[in-house]
Amino acid sequence: MLEVVQLTAGYGGIEALHGISFDVRPGEIVTLIGANGAGKSTTLRAISGLIRARSGEIRFKGRSIANLPPHEIVGLGLAHVPEGRMVFSNLTVMENLRMGAYLQRDKAAIASTLGQVFDIFPRLRERERQSAGTLSGGEQQMLAIGRALMGRPRFLMLDEPSLGIAPLLVKSIFEQIVRINRDQGLAILLVEQNANLALRVSQRGHVLETGRITLSAPAGSLLADPAVRKAYLGGH
Ligand SMILES: Nc1ncnc2c1ncn2[C@@H]1O[C@H](COP(=O)(O)OP(=O)(O)O)[C@@H](O)[C@H]1O
Ligand SMILES: [Mg+2]
Repeated sequence: MLEVVQLTAGYGGIEALHGISFDVRPGEIVTLIGANGAGKSTTLRAISGLIRARSGEIRFKGRSIANLPPHEIVGLGLAHVPEGRMVFSNLTVMENLRMGAYLQRDKAAIASTLGQVFDIFPRLRERERQSAGTLSGGEQQMLAIGRALMGRPRFLMLDEPSLGIAPLLVKSIFEQIVRINRDQGLAILLVEQNANLALRVSQRGHVLETGRITLSAPAGSLLADPAVRKAYLGGH
């Protein structure tokens, strides 16, 4: 589904990714684990075209997407829910969701996708006329995911979906992430500080350390690995 080969990327004079390689297979949930500043968000930004890939290759469904403009990458079915959610605060929930369908032409399909999103996140239906800025952090995260789903993606990248969210809502959002993956067969690349939670819903994980992938393994092996436990899972 997604293949990243020897990718380097960065900001100005800083190289943040030093040639990383990893993949995500169809239907999988894969977690990218790493400390703060390791380059997780940079990886997602390079894949979705928000920053340039300086070298290396990014292939989505077999096609090279390195340095395509972001809207073309979205158009191919790759959606990115950025860190910090970035919903349009002054627009209503419904307006935000409609924005997510801006590349869709078929009105009946849009209505049906909207129904699916409301089914996954009933709170969004309850708050459809409310402006997004008045939602709680957890509700804004639901809205950001719902907006991404409105584009009918085949592959979803989520950057820190649990960040700053009440534990009860985190649990519910993760249940829905699993459901979306299971019911729609959507492949998901998950970036999480809460590695424990993320690995529990993932098939595989990749460990990113200061711009390098140091370990790729089934999620169960990572959860059982003493070094991974010590560094990323609170050491228990
Ligand atoms: N907009 C930016 N400008 C300059 N440096 C940045 C920017 N964003 C991130 N960085 C740097 O790139 C590295 C990787 O950051 P990031 O991808 O945000 O890490 P993570 O998401 O794993 O916490 C860090 O050293 C960070 O300071
Ligand atoms: Mg980040």
